[in-house]
Amino acid sequence: MRKPMIAGNWKMYKTAGQAVFIVQDLAELIKDVKDVEVIVCPSYIALKSVSTVIEMDKLNMGLGAQNVYWEEEGAFTGEVSPMMLKDLRVDYVIVGHSERRHIFGETNEMVNKKLKAVLAHDMKPILCVGETKEEREEERTDEVIKEQLFGNLAEVSLRDIRKVVIAYEPVWAIGTGLTASSEDANDIIQNIRALIESLYGSEVAEDIRILYGGSVKPENITELMEEQEIDGALVGGASLDAQSFAKIVKYQSAEE
Ligand code: PGA
Repeated sequence: MRKPMIAGNWKMYKTAGQAVFIVQDLAELIKDVKDVEVIVCPSYIALKSVSTVIEMDKLNMGLGAQNVYWEEEGAFTGEVSPMMLKDLRVDYVIVGHSERRHIFGETNEMVNKKLKAVLAHDMKPILCVGETKEEREEERTDEVIKEQLFGNLAEVSLRDIRKVVIAYEPVWAIGTGLTASSEDANDIIQNIRALIESLYGSEVAEDIRILYGGSVKPENITELMEEQEIDGALVGGASLDAQSFAKIVKYQSAEE
């Protein structure tokens, strides 16, 4: 059984103080939720404060970072190493987010280096893949996702792949209010599972968690989660407010 995961990506929003407030409010709102893994991914600047509050108050959630550099240490001004994240008790690191790929020019090779560095430091990558609007219109979705997956997972062992979470995030659906239909998202996630099977076999494919991301909101989460292949969500905008994020986490009780 794949445990559902709901992860909030706060992008470049919220100061450290604001992040702590949301985490505390969120923890109160979701305190009875047991069967969903909840992850918050604040900015680097807020990681320490959020990590401390999660630890001290024994909150029901894990900590994620939004990015990492692959080197252990060195003259890389402005970068943050996996060792530094591990030291802050970070559990998950998002790699390959479309904003990193498209705004900051990250290639499949760079994403692969980051992913391997996260694994080498005993943290778990959330690997984002997805096509742009143009690629979708040119019917290249499957090809693009295959290229990303194969490139990003190069040299990842059968043992390590079990720690990877994949997020299918169509670029045209991120922050736009447009969502892939739940059937469409399910179909593409099924294809991703088939690609994982071709690389690592059916047992891994059956166990690996694949999330959907792109304008997930309290209003559409239930429908998405009803789909067989969708194991959770990576949520941007709607995770910035504790009430709306909590509603997404509690998708099983949609009437609330
Ligand atoms: P969104 O962002 O929910 O605001 O569309 C999703 C993401 O970028 O992970």
